[in-house]
Amino acid sequence: MSPLPTAKDRLLFTPGPLTTSLGVKQAMLHDAGSWHFEFSEIVRSVREELLAVAGVSRSTGWECVLMQGSGTFGVESVITSTVPPDGKLLVVSNGAYGERIGQMAAAARIPDQVLRFPETEPPAAVEVDRALAADPAISQVALVHCETTTGILNPVTEIGRVVKRHRRVFAVDAMSSFGGLPLDLEAAGIDYLISSANKCIEGVPGFSFVLARRDALLATEGWARSLSLDLLGQWKGFEKNDQFRFTPPTHALLAFAQALRELADEGGVAARNARYAANHRTLLAGMGALGFRPLLRPEVQSPIITAFHFPKDTAFEFDGFYRRLSDRGMIIYPGKLTQVNTFRIGTIGRLFPADLEQLVHAVAGALRDLGCRVPVAS
Ligand SMILES: Cc1ncc(COP(=O)(O)O)c(C=O)c1O
Repeated sequence: MSPLPTAKDRLLFTPGPLTTSLGVKQAMLHDAGSWHFEFSEIVRSVREELLAVAGVSRSTGWECVLMQGSGTFGVESVITSTVPPDGKLLVVSNGAYGERIGQMAAAARIPDQVLRFPETEPPAAVEVDRALAADPAISQVALVHCETTTGILNPVTEIGRVVKRHRRVFAVDAMSSFGGLPLDLEAAGIDYLISSANKCIEGVPGFSFVLARRDALLATEGWARSLSLDLLGQWKGFEKNDQFRFTPPTHALLAFAQALRELADEGGVAARNARYAANHRTLLAGMGALGFRPLLRPEVQSPIITAFHFPKDTAFEFDGFYRRLSDRGMIIYPGKLTQVNTFRIGTIGRLFPADLEQLVHAVAGALRDLGCRVPVAS
């Protein structure tokens, strides 16, 4: 690997960490004192701004808790802090990130049931309804909004309505969707929404965040199974002095504050969604012309990340393909499916349709280098 930084960074067609803007990168060229009032002010405004991005506010009963670590830490913080000691978690899963929530429950010895669906199909609300009706011990339901394993968009509002009809708590992992796909938290009955800094807000890795309904959060006193991931404890720390309880990712916060400004400048979530949708359309058209077949049917496909079947051509092998794209300045993502051979291409981050056109051109070149016949059969 060449020493970083290279003269020109490669474009990341991945689900995060993502290609970020120059402004976001430049924002990190400063040292910030974690106890300094200027930094506390940034922490305070980031928490407020995240609620605004979600279309909620403190005055309507919502709180934002930042949590050090990657997205998994944020999800684990919610799972291990907000299920009561005598509670039970229902995980609705159709991919690797749903499965990971089940693993979190198991690691924390929280009773759980994993309701599984095929990776290429959205979970059926009627089956969630049935599971909740059958088991009054279930206190909380967890669902992934955009299951990044495949890029499938799950029916969060429909399932949320079922969860609320049964008066259970609803936690949504919106890691790869928040900020890039519109979502009405109230309409979906969400109590906890989790995402992270290096996804659709287009910041850099370093922390995750939880948007929590205040009354749900305040009811969790004494339930945390961990000190550092204690969601209510972390919130109390911010309330006391606008500070993290433990060392904050200062540079990631500075970058994130800039990323939020750039999101607003772009026109907010609707405008970002439109750009990602245009990226996705450009990708599908280009890859389709090269003979690639997407894994998912269009009705359930998100504009965040797309899985494509491997070409049938025996000259194709993923590692060589990946390397040839990397040589052309483009980074894609391997597949994460258990049954089918796929690779994935992300369309989020500081990317525009022209970048996707460039990628498709590079894909054609990489295939020719490998000796594949183009268009491919896939
Ligand atoms: C839906 C979803 N949940 C959870 C995670 C885990 O986040 P991290 O890798 O930042 O821990 C990811 C990562 O891509 C994700 O896409």
